[in-house]
Amino acid sequence: MTLPANHPLNDGRTADAPLIRAYRGERQATPPVWFMRQAGRSLPEYRELRVGNAMLDACLNPELSSEITLQPVRRHGVDAAIFFSDIVIPIKLAGVEVEIVPGRGPVLADPIRSVSDVAKLRPLDPAALAPIIEGVARTVAELGTTPLIGFAGAPFTLASYLVEGGPSKDQLRARTMMYTEPHAWATLLNWCADVSGAFLQAQVLAGASAAQLFDSWVGSLSEQQYVRRVAPHSKRALSHLRGLEIPKVHFGVGSNEVLAAMRDIGADVMGVDWRIPLDEANRRLGGTVPLQGNLDPALLGAPAKVLAAHVDDVIERGREAPAHVLNLGHGVPPTTDPDVLTRIVEQVHAG
Ligand code: CP3
Repeated sequence: MTLPANHPLNDGRTADAPLIRAYRGERQATPPVWFMRQAGRSLPEYRELRVGNAMLDACLNPELSSEITLQPVRRHGVDAAIFFSDIVIPIKLAGVEVEIVPGRGPVLADPIRSVSDVAKLRPLDPAALAPIIEGVARTVAELGTTPLIGFAGAPFTLASYLVEGGPSKDQLRARTMMYTEPHAWATLLNWCADVSGAFLQAQVLAGASAAQLFDSWVGSLSEQQYVRRVAPHSKRALSHLRGLEIPKVHFGVGSNEVLAAMRDIGADVMGVDWRIPLDEANRRLGGTVPLQGNLDPALLGAPAKVLAAHVDDVIERGREAPAHVLNLGHGVPPTTDPDVLTRIVEQVHAG
């Protein structure tokens, strides 16, 4: 499989964009910048569009998903858009009953707890991805030279929601299943890898210029368990992009003990959370890959001077890495004043 001739990376639109150059390891004079969860509740224009539309319905409405994706690009002048969707969309499209409960997160009607639950999971019919493909195509047609990032949840994080039935603090049930039902666990993670992989592949073929795999809850695993029971499945998710020449970013929260193992599933760029500075992350990775991150979201509410000094410090430490894309260490909190984000973009671009 290869990218179509009219893909933005092939027809001259995004191949030279600062984000793509940085992801390919070419240091830019000032780091490109975007924010995880830049689309969402911090924006009044988002809250307005969401009135009367359930979260996952909005994700499956191409007009809405496209408009919401574009909102933060227009407002903040960020160097990338990230497709507005959710990591649970592909499991919903595969027939699993899931909804997003406001303020809580994804909740399942019937959690997957046993071998027979796992056996009931059905593959994702590619035709179900039509609203995603249309949403991406509409977005890319508007974005011009600004690259769109496609994304998906990594198998462990998705499986955590499936087994727990909702958000959990330490993924205890999921990790118990990993030890007690290793076969069912492997089957479940392969299923997650394939639905996430298909979701990611659809976004890339429809015009996304980069892909980010989120393993948000990877921080609850030991390195040994990660390498044995999780990493092969994350690799399988990325195998759905084989032949598609796009930068692949991998990110997790609390991932600092497994950074190198996460890179080794085939990531070209590593996202770093706020718990270690970028120079230290670069040391742990042996200077092998560009880094993305890692402003502490807690400082978005700090006095302007304190935040500006933090931004400068992150940029300075990012100079140790082969290249750097500025981002947060996790998503934008919904309470963030959006003007604070706009000012960060201005500061970063001013150099
Ligand atoms: O702007 C962007 O970053 C793109 C959109 C995006 C969303 N979810 C939209 C969303 C992305 C990349 C995601 C990924 C996602 N979803 C992850 C991985 C990234 C991360 O944050 O770690 C995870 C773990 C989920 C699962 C999920 N979905 C959670 C935990 C929540 C929050 C629940 C809440 O209400 O606080 C969601 C809902 C969600 N996904 C919202 C948005 C904008 C908020 C829903 C709303 O607006 O009502």
